[in-house]
Amino acid sequence: MTFYVTTPIYYANSLPHLGHLYTMIVADAVARSKRQQGIETFFLTGTDEHGINIERAAQKNGRTPKEQADYVVNYFTKMTSAFGLDTAHGGYDIFMRTTNPFHYEGVSELWRRVAQAKTPKGNDALYKGHYEGWFCAPCAAYKTEDEYVKAANAGDPPTCLIHETKLDRVSEESYFFRLSEYDEALLGLYESRPDFVRPEARRNEVKSFVAGGLQDLSVSRLKTSVSWGIPVPDDPNHTMYVWFDALTNYITAIGFGNEQQEKEIGFEKFWPALHLVGKDILRFHAVYWPAFLMAAGVEQPRAIVAHGMWVDPTGRKMSKTLGNTIELDILNKFFPINAIRYFVLREMVFGQDGRFGYENLIDRTNSDLASGLGNLSSRTLTMIHRYCEGKIPDGSITDENRLAAKRAGVEDESAISNFISHARDEFVRHSEDLAFSRALEEAWAVVARADKMISDAKPWDLAKDANQRQTLSAVLYRASETLRWLAVLLYPVMPTAANEIYKQLGLGDGAGSIDPRTLEWGSLSAGTTIEEVKPLFPRIDKAKTMEEIKQESGAQSQEAGAGQTAQPGSGQHATEADAVAGVANYIDITDFAKVELRVAEVKTAERIPKADKLLLLTVDVGEEKPRTILAGIAQHYEPEKLIGRKIVVVANLKPRKLRGYESQGMLLAASIGEEGKPVLATFTEEVPNGARLK
Ligand code: MSP
Repeated sequence: MTFYVTTPIYYANSLPHLGHLYTMIVADAVARSKRQQGIETFFLTGTDEHGINIERAAQKNGRTPKEQADYVVNYFTKMTSAFGLDTAHGGYDIFMRTTNPFHYEGVSELWRRVAQAKTPKGNDALYKGHYEGWFCAPCAAYKTEDEYVKAANAGDPPTCLIHETKLDRVSEESYFFRLSEYDEALLGLYESRPDFVRPEARRNEVKSFVAGGLQDLSVSRLKTSVSWGIPVPDDPNHTMYVWFDALTNYITAIGFGNEQQEKEIGFEKFWPALHLVGKDILRFHAVYWPAFLMAAGVEQPRAIVAHGMWVDPTGRKMSKTLGNTIELDILNKFFPINAIRYFVLREMVFGQDGRFGYENLIDRTNSDLASGLGNLSSRTLTMIHRYCEGKIPDGSITDENRLAAKRAGVEDESAISNFISHARDEFVRHSEDLAFSRALEEAWAVVARADKMISDAKPWDLAKDANQRQTLSAVLYRASETLRWLAVLLYPVMPTAANEIYKQLGLGDGAGSIDPRTLEWGSLSAGTTIEEVKPLFPRIDKAKTMEEIKQESGAQSQEAGAGQTAQPGSGQHATEADAVAGVANYIDITDFAKVELRVAEVKTAERIPKADKLLLLTVDVGEEKPRTILAGIAQHYEPEKLIGRKIVVVANLKPRKLRGYESQGMLLAASIGEEGKPVLATFTEEVPNGARLK
């Protein structure tokens, strides 16, 4: 049995960020989990190096396109090594580059096959025509009217809805793929293989997109407009559309259409692949790619699984074009790899978007890892050193000691072994579904269970009582056996930390080669000599680290400003305190009830000397005395016009000193556009001062 997993190949126009790292981490966890089960696995990642976007980035940076790609690949090499994702660390098997000569050969072969193919309706799958329309270089995609915003001036180009950048006008001869005639075949594919596109919600989106009718797809550009790419076989005046070229990497990498890779890896051996992609590029993978493969007569992928996007604290997708990325250099400098892996896999609920914040990462590292798993491991092993001469104790309790154990609050062994077996089954099931967040919840339920067992049994007290020798041994055996299971389960998520736990248990380096489904309770041998206890997850000092990150981010954005790497404004890191858990995290009604929103009437309003943004207001909130509130609205509201206006204030906000005044609340306003123009919340009906908003 073999397994093949891929990440998208990343554009070589700019350096990777957290969003890119994320798909690699997911793929790496999948690959490790398959390998752990003894399945021969091939894991592909790499770079997408052709097309206008790379050509432009190269030009901007004073490089040739190849130099630009090499520069980015160099960084990838460095970073994937630092994050333990490269081959040397048991990660990917190939770093695919679309500039590899074997890829040219393979893509040309696929093109030729498509060029000879007929559509299901019997027409030529490929034809030459004329393309007229708008193209987004960062998306590498043609845009229909509902995918762009028209410019205010009739003569100006529209802007891409995703990237907020100007589109290119294309009007030229082009080869077209007759996608319009593949709709039924594609719908048939989605119908016959419900797991082909996942998750369900994405599958439905894809289905309705296809059911809405497909347009033929322009699959080449004139060489005179885009020269950096693979020439169309037998028509070198045309360059292949970069997505045709890029998608094909998944098969050329393992030997489709070229001998070199076929010999080394083997297309027959590994295809079909599981494609992991961000939801932003699902259409290319779930519509265009299957249609190309149908035309060429190549087997379809195993599945296409789309994950959500990492968004910044304001909810925008993290991207270089928007300049709101989390840089890998910073992650690498301030956070341990295992903590980053754990955080992203735990935090991003499968299929949904996730909000990234450094503070959140620090909190999780400290609570779940340092105080949770790390503490469980170190306290257990420390007690084994202290009370059992550094050897795993025997876990059995003989009949005559059972009562004493019960008295000490220690339950039957089956209670914990059943609990952990069930958690293991769930963990494995969720991991197979790529629902790592759910899987990790199961694992942490085990951590909590073992912690509770220790706190209830109080081994430090048992050690003082000679009659409780067996009870003490049993508790410590159970804790260490639990740790062994956790090390095996967690290996795909945090390979080095899991191996470290395994090693400290005296079991060597092998957590990655044990199939979790074969774990049996009680297989940890009594008498095994454990190793020295080393901390697994040092606590992170939040205030200090946040300050250092702020400084580092500032330094980086200044460097980026000097021209180097096309990272506009990368100083805008998601460091705000409001960088909270997940976008999908709802608040409870009781959370909302904590906020006291009240109607207020502005009594006085004046400017504050030397503070051109602030107004000093007194407002009547229906209390004995009016309150003072400072509001940053001076550039948008004339003070005198505010008098008598009914507004909404947060009445229970902690008072705060600003410019020598105490602000006793906050007023509510909508924030419009990039500069955040405030528009005060107000009422169109009569409302008494002090009325509460519920
Ligand atoms: N080159 C194409 C893919 C070709 S695959 C045959 C491409 N490259 S990309 O560099 O722009 O992005 C690739 C992938 O990076 C996204 O689909 C996604 O998997 C990941 N991400 C990029 N930004 C992301 C986030 N903000 N959040 C999560 N993942 C994101 O598209």
